[in-house]
Amino acid sequence: MKIFIDSADIGQIREAWSWGIIDGVTTNPSHVAKTGRKHLEVYREICDLVDGPISLETISLGAKEIVDEGRALAKIHKNVVVKVPIIREGLKAVKILTAEGIRTNVTVAFSPLQALLAAKCGATYISPFVGRLDAVGHVGMDCVRQIRTIYNNYNFKTQILTAAVRHPLHVLEAALAGSDVATMSFDVLEQLYQHPLTDIGIEIFLKDWAKVPKP
Ligand code: E4P
Repeated sequence: MKIFIDSADIGQIREAWSWGIIDGVTTNPSHVAKTGRKHLEVYREICDLVDGPISLETISLGAKEIVDEGRALAKIHKNVVVKVPIIREGLKAVKILTAEGIRTNVTVAFSPLQALLAAKCGATYISPFVGRLDAVGHVGMDCVRQIRTIYNNYNFKTQILTAAVRHPLHVLEAALAGSDVATMSFDVLEQLYQHPLTDIGIEIFLKDWAKVPKP
């Protein structure tokens, strides 16, 4: 499973990229707003830093405007994936962008049927927001599992990008469900490394090593 960082914070992205475990980046308008910086500046820096798919989100609500925005975003760098919300106008735009060879990430998805529609329009990625489903009492990962089944049944090539990941268990479940990608915050990425038994194990080895006679 590929791992993306979900952030527009250049410091976090630079650090996570240096670890060698990141395959790409997803941003959204909220992440960009948090930086307090101009979006194009931020997008260019991310593209200079990371060699992998970088999702940049459109904010228009009409198909024509989304296509225009998508074309402009795609011109920033060859790695740009145009993120489009899963509304009817959005999917119309995805169909057009796909026909032009522009990759898309259909976002703010909460149901397997939405995912079916996105795949029919040729989306490169579908982003079900599992954490937000969990937050309203639905098992978010069920959505990922159902999308996997539908895509396998009909051999859709759209990749499942599990999003709104809140903790390492979401990452584990996404991998077990056959999600193609999981995108997560810097904090969750850090948590993936941690295990108390690893810390205790290293401590024991170092203590024992101190008892080994030195040359
Ligand atoms: C995914 O691409 C989105 O940017 C992200 O995961 C949204 O999730 P959140 O805002 O609920 O964390």
